Amino acid sequence: MPIPKAELHLHIEGTLEPELAFALAARNGVPLPYADTDALREAYQFSDLQSFLNLYYELMAVLRTEDDFADLADAYLARAAAQGVRHAEIFFDPQAHISRGVGIGTVVEGLGRALDRSEAVHGISTQLIMCFLRDESAESAMETLQAAKPYLGRIVGVGLDSAEVGHPPVKFREVYEAAAALGLRRVAHAGEEGPPSYITEALDVLGVERIDHGLRCVEDPELVARLVRDQVPLTLCPLSNVRLRTVDVLEEHPLPAMLDAGLLCTVNSDDPAYFGGYVEDNFLAVREALGLSPDRLRDLARNSFLASFLDDDEERRAR
Ligand code: ADE
Ligand code: ZN
Repeated sequence: MPIPKAELHLHIEGTLEPELAFALAARNGVPLPYADTDALREAYQFSDLQSFLNLYYELMAVLRTEDDFADLADAYLARAAAQGVRHAEIFFDPQAHISRGVGIGTVVEGLGRALDRSEAVHGISTQLIMCFLRDESAESAMETLQAAKPYLGRIVGVGLDSAEVGHPPVKFREVYEAAAALGLRRVAHAGEEGPPSYITEALDVLGVERIDHGLRCVEDPELVARLVRDQVPLTLCPLSNVRLRTVDVLEEHPLPAMLDAGLLCTVNSDDPAYFGGYVEDNFLAVREALGLSPDRLRDLARNSFLASFLDDDEERRAR
């Protein structure tokens, strides 16, 4: 039985498996430039974050209706349940849909349908986090936040994703201030490909509570000391790091050293349809490659609940 855990770094669009992509393409009459699922899988060879993002955005063309988003989330939740997930804080990328003429209402209502039945059907409590695309303008992010206003009852917080280098957190200062004023929780991808200074900036300028990835903090001992002191959660995604070549091989992943340093690390799947595994697959992979002890794996699972947005009572129930 997989250990019970929370998943805190999961892009719902990154759970689009090739089989579902082809089914939705057929349902919506959207042409895909791949002969079949095998040909699509063969395209999953990434040299860096951008090479992955190109395919990730391209395949989103098949997501058009509320039903599509409900089917996508249902499929993820079924897989997550089998991987021991009891609570999921799920990212989505509204701008990547709005730009294709798919409104944020379609996305949120569709996802919401699957999330509403998730506790009863899959035993997983859920929350939604809307991410801003950092390679789009701050104005576009602000417009997206405005467009989300009718749906804020379903959205717990905001995040920041997409191409990191050259798009520092400070670009989104006003958007995060506005999100905070609306009572939204704040997280941001930082230190995946970008420098450790982006992590510091996300904390100081955006006021984030968690750092998504945060891997490159290890290059800055003062930053590590701060993250340890303040127990800032880091949502690491080991298989993603290997596939996007931010670490060469899993055996060289800094996770053990990060845990030894006292960092509040969690293990997550990021975009599991593209990176070769869901969250328990990530746990098993780091256990094998890094020789993590059962105690360490239990620490990671406990950290996932500690770092979640659940309150203490909800946390106890979820575990
Ligand atoms: N969007 C989806 N997955 C992402 C990742 N790993 N980094 C940045 N943006 C993303
Ligand atoms: Zn991510």
